[in-house]
Amino acid sequence: MNIGILGGTGPAGSSLALRLASAGHSVWIGSREESKASLVVEEALQRFQEEDLSLFAGTNERAAECELVVVATPWDTMLKAVEPLKDVLRGKTVISMANALLRVGSELQAIIPARGSAAQTLQAALCDSKIVAALHHVPAKELGRISSPIEADVLVCSDYENEGHAVVELLSSLPGMNSYFAGSLSQAGPIEAMTAVLVNLNIRYKTRVALRVIGIPK
Ligand SMILES: NC(=O)c1ccc[n+]([C@@H]2O[C@H](COP(=O)([O-])OP(=O)(O)OC[C@H]3O[C@@H](n4cnc5c(N)ncnc54)[C@H](OP(=O)(O)O)[C@@H]3O)[C@@H](O)[C@H]2O)c1
Repeated sequence: MNIGILGGTGPAGSSLALRLASAGHSVWIGSREESKASLVVEEALQRFQEEDLSLFAGTNERAAECELVVVATPWDTMLKAVEPLKDVLRGKTVISMANALLRVGSELQAIIPARGSAAQTLQAALCDSKIVAALHHVPAKELGRISSPIEADVLVCSDYENEGHAVVELLSSLPGMNSYFAGSLSQAGPIEAMTAVLVNLNIRYKTRVALRVIGIPK
């Protein structure tokens, strides 16, 4: 699959790009500055010389031309990033991985955006695209460590069930990862908010926790 990542130069987007490229997908890391994306891609290709990664650098506009697009910018800047791309994103599946979080003292707390979640905010802005919320809980560091399987489960939700299931299938194909369809986009609020709890566990226990869903037959 041909996958573009908007804001793909950050830890989340670049790690996801690596993980998807290591699974055989062609991935475009998008940025507001193509040169910034080029540096990230060069560094990744250098670090994983032994892997045959199809990883490319471009602008966010170039990444948005891909078949599947991921928004990997902070939640409070995502509208700025996607609004100029509304036409090119029309009809496409767009993955929202943003978590609306605020640091309060030593703790991260969930913010509830007016529409209920970052993903619903994105869906309202990109009304002709099919938003699928996913990957909120997966730490960038583990995502980018492509020599090991990723021990994490991913909850996916969308108002577009077929597109949601396609994302579940894509993520479940990554070694170690299971993915489950959790319902309509109205589920994105609690899924995003749960990230605050997981990050606080990481801080408290000086580790990186991951979510595992049990009880669903394979
Ligand atoms: N980090 C994690 O472990 C993790 C895990 C799961 C989900 N997430 C979610 O994934 C998203 C990205 O996380 P991150 O840690 O990678 O974030 P980040 O480093 O703060 O930002 C990612 C990229 O967004 C772009 N960006 C920043 N401000 C922008 C603006 N005003 N307009 C357009 N683009 C802008 C930048 O790319 P350019 O400068 O190249 O344009 C930046 O490299 C967040 O919403 C986060 O909640 C993160």
